[in-house]
Amino acid sequence: MKYSNLVLIGFMGTGKSTVGLALSGKLGWSFVDVDAKIEEKEGRTIPEMFAQNGEAYFRQVETAVIADIMQQNRQIVSMGGGAVLAAGNRARMSSNGLVIALSASVETIIERVRADQNRPLLQGNLEERVASLMEQRKNAYDFADIHINTDNMPVQDIVAAILKAGGWGGE
Ligand code: S3P
Repeated sequence: MKYSNLVLIGFMGTGKSTVGLALSGKLGWSFVDVDAKIEEKEGRTIPEMFAQNGEAYFRQVETAVIADIMQQNRQIVSMGGGAVLAAGNRARMSSNGLVIALSASVETIIERVRADQNRPLLQGNLEERVASLMEQRKNAYDFADIHINTDNMPVQDIVAAILKAGGWGGE
């Protein structure tokens, strides 16, 4: 097998979990959601972690969870949107996986995340928060091996593009 893991990165609302689950079904590899692992490890939700201990603490746990996950193989890993901010996390993703960056327009992202209260970084004025975070992170996903814009692209087509890029073309 050419790649040991498929790693999905991208801003909040770019479709990492949806695409990851579909890929997992296709390849028969396990689906691992980093945010869910963090919540499992801590026994509390991400908004609770931010409120009680702050973002820096959340980032420490995130790094520990990523280090653990990236030692294993045959997984589709869905990263949190900010997981790419630490160089050590990026190195672990690239050294043991094919890294796929999903992107979407600011309008698509706002539409997808609007109903969700579970993202502490987007509380307040949603339009402003998304625009300013996207600006801050505009180059954060550049290190990926593959880039896919998910605006108006059906999940099956995204999955097919990733499988083809990963060398599973035609399956
Ligand atoms: C974050 C994204 C979230 C979650 C946390 C912080 C970020 O994950 O890890 O709220 O910094 O972009 P999703 O991208 O899965 O929403």
